[in-house]
Amino acid sequence: MSDLTTLLEVGGPVAALGGGAAYARAKHPAAYWSSIGLPVSTVRLLSSYGSVMEACDLTVPPSRLRVFALKTMSRREVRPVPPRRGIVRPTTTGLRLRLRLAPGQEPADFAAAAERLRHVWGVHAVYVTTVKPGVIELRLVGYDVLRRVRMPRKSAGGFLRVPVALREDATPFIRDYRTIPHQLTLGATLSGKSMYLRHLITGLAPQPVALVGIDCKRGVELAPFASRLSALATDPEQAAELLPVLVQEMEDRYDLIKARQGIAPDTPDEEITSDIWGLPDSERPVPVVLFVDEVAELFLVATKKDEERRDEMVTQLIRLAQLGRAAGIYLEVCGQRFGAELGKGATMLRAQLTGRVCHRVNGEASAKMALGDIAPEAVTAACSIAPERPGLAVAGDTSGGWSRIRTPYLSLGDAAETCRESVHLVPDLPALKSFRPDVPARPAETAAPVFLPHPVTD
Ligand SMILES: Nc1ncnc2c1ncn2[C@@H]1O[C@H](COP(=O)(O)OP(=O)(O)OP(=O)(O)O)[C@@H](O)[C@H]1O
Ligand SMILES: [Mg+2]
Repeated sequence: MSDLTTLLEVGGPVAALGGGAAYARAKHPAAYWSSIGLPVSTVRLLSSYGSVMEACDLTVPPSRLRVFALKTMSRREVRPVPPRRGIVRPTTTGLRLRLRLAPGQEPADFAAAAERLRHVWGVHAVYVTTVKPGVIELRLVGYDVLRRVRMPRKSAGGFLRVPVALREDATPFIRDYRTIPHQLTLGATLSGKSMYLRHLITGLAPQPVALVGIDCKRGVELAPFASRLSALATDPEQAAELLPVLVQEMEDRYDLIKARQGIAPDTPDEEITSDIWGLPDSERPVPVVLFVDEVAELFLVATKKDEERRDEMVTQLIRLAQLGRAAGIYLEVCGQRFGAELGKGATMLRAQLTGRVCHRVNGEASAKMALGDIAPEAVTAACSIAPERPGLAVAGDTSGGWSRIRTPYLSLGDAAETCRESVHLVPDLPALKSFRPDVPARPAETAAPVFLPHPVTD
């Protein structure tokens, strides 16, 4: 009897603890990681570092000096040496560890062993980044951070830099217009493109930037942000009027830069500029970000007359993509597909859009339109995105790098509220004045009925 009591006394709390831990791991992975996962993985890592490196073939033979010293001083067995490691730095989502590569090693060796390392140290994933020549950082991620996205508090945003999503290695994915001026975002319907745009618009709304929208879905996606938009076109006809104005604005800005260059023959070299960023603050025009939702709608034509208008619009978009950067005009293009079948100019425009984000797509062909010229593995990764995870995407740029990202959830109401709060920041751009959308009045609070309805009964 006493044995049974002891078993119940000891086993009960242990079972409750185990159950609690399993529940926390499934439902609150961040809390589980901070309280249990982190200490367990740290102990595992520190206690097994040497043997794991050896098992994963990440050690090198010891130097002759070391062999000599070991043989003469201690007579211990001479073992291969693992790379020297720095201190283990815990984070809210994982662990970080810097390693100095031993002679003959390269970061790719560690990237190839990442899957083995993740299993042996019991973490969700291991990523390898190069810090500087000879030094790499192992980023151990404790749990699936893309399941419920929470952006890190210290996301290095800034002027024309918007932390828009989270990468799978728990670092923020930053849309930086100064380094990647134009971007293409592709995805099937309900894949999360508009959510991505929503984050960009709310990120840019509190900045001194002009936001311009072309939303050929009659404005349903962008109209809620009308209060912060400097111009909005909601069908191809309006877009056909807006685009030449933007091209003209770009040409005027080029004239401004040219005038500055020709100020005087004795202008110091550092004052000669080839883009708006070299202009003095007082003269610098405000940057313009053009959002195009559902780009294919601009390409589709029904009649011969529409065809001419389409060709003009495509040419203007190509010109904006080609020359816009120096004039501070940036493109953010969204669509479900963007292939050569859209017609003349589609491939040329696509090639101008350096940044690429591909959400869930309906086939490999669509993924190839966004990521085909980046990396074949990126295409495969985009094709395996599940419909249950809207907002998940593969982001790459034409330099060949790519990563999985996911936007956090942001309600349309909250995004629209941010835009309303920053309405005073809409810059004064006379050319776009006639395209400024009507701001819908805020829906009035539903007043309580004066008479309560009574159901009619017999
Ligand atoms: N990161 C996310 N987390 C949670 N839910 C999301 C996320 N991104 C999008 N969603 C949800 O998925 C649904 C579709 O998103 P969204 O409207 O952005 O898709 P879309 O690609 O623009 O679709 P369409 O082509 O039909 O306009 C919405 O209900 C949205 O709330
Ligand atoms: Mg959409």
